[in-house]
Amino acid sequence: MIDDVPAAAIADGAGTPIYAYSLKRVLHNFHRLRAAFSPADVHIHYSAKANSSQAILRVLAAAGAGVDAVSGGEIHRALCAGFKPQDIVFAGVGKSPAEIRCALENGIGWFNVENLLELQHIASLAEALGIAEVPVALRLNPQVTANTHPYISTGHGAAKFGLSAAVTADILARANEFPRIALAGMHVHIGSQLGDAAASIAAIEKMRRLIEPYPQIKTINLGGGLPVRYRFDESAPSIEEFASALLPHLRGYRVLLEPGRAIVADAGILISEVQYVKRQAGEVFYVVDASMAELMRPPLYQAHHEIVPLAVKAGALQRGQVVGPVCETADVLARDRQLPPLQVGDRIALMTAGAYGMVMASNYNSRLRPAEAVVDVDGTGWRVSRRRETLADLLRNEL
Ligand code: LLP
Repeated sequence: MIDDVPAAAIADGAGTPIYAYSLKRVLHNFHRLRAAFSPADVHIHYSAKANSSQAILRVLAAAGAGVDAVSGGEIHRALCAGFKPQDIVFAGVGKSPAEIRCALENGIGWFNVENLLELQHIASLAEALGIAEVPVALRLNPQVTANTHPYISTGHGAAKFGLSAAVTADILARANEFPRIALAGMHVHIGSQLGDAAASIAAIEKMRRLIEPYPQIKTINLGGGLPVRYRFDESAPSIEEFASALLPHLRGYRVLLEPGRAIVADAGILISEVQYVKRQAGEVFYVVDASMAELMRPPLYQAHHEIVPLAVKAGALQRGQVVGPVCETADVLARDRQLPPLQVGDRIALMTAGAYGMVMASNYNSRLRPAEAVVDVDGTGWRVSRRRETLADLLRNEL
């Protein structure tokens, strides 16, 4: 069930593979997060990179969230979904001058700046456009190692992200050399799916030491990274535990957060159908109609998504692999799993797929990107919110 709607009804009505989301859960997660951090003056900027579907952005905009965007495309999506420009923070390690200009023209609220030349671009474009003052947060690379997968760890010295402490200190000391720039905040994001708050606290403390002499810096943007539970038997620190560990270190500052996963991951599933069952070399392969093109996380990060059949299956669990049709050995969605005896035509849900699922889908093997459906906020109605791609879509941009 997705709220009061059987997932099977969505698969029957709109086919597979399909992403399906609970808008009610999205809102619940947003409100829970805001409440947990409410002792601080907190502003939640949903990280659109986790899931930038209009249906999801719209409910979050209406609920009063801001947005964290990392490209001109995400800014466009956020504006189309109804976010006010001043509620958008523009982050990213490589903002192009064209994207910076576009963000300035649209009156974007904050820039999270990651290098000196970028700051100079913003200053000179603001001057050219006659913009009096652009609020900027410097993104510190705090040189701490987050407790997470190396591919999503961003705060250690060898990562491409942020400014070193020395460069940050230098820019802060020379703040008056950057016309039209209001250095009013600091930004730090040390990784995603964080195992605990320890490295975040170390990062905040480093940051506080750097900004102590600059009382004009009143805002700390802590980025995202709050973890979710991907395994049924796993325990991850709760949002409330993170909040109570972090809040004492943030006293006196206005706090921005950029959570993505914590808002949408457990609000979405990917529904797929078993097409073949292949027994070979002592293995059982369930070949389903979803693949690494629709859900990239398992091959890319060895990520675990629980597999649940949509209908109750009688019979003992047996070890098997869930694989997709893509011509890559890596196209395995679940390896070495205890699964019920699935048959051709059975449908399964890949759980906790609301974050970094559809946004990372590709047309590899000229597969059509899947449809998306949402169950409405009241939990009873559902609709297709993005149609499945067609063969015409595949060739649309070819000249
Ligand atoms: N802010 C910044 C600056 C970020 O780089 C990210 C994520 C976020 C916020 C949101 O992080 P979250 O709250 O969602 O953890 N594709 C990977 C995750 C990549 C995260 C990239 N940055 C995955 O599927 O696990």
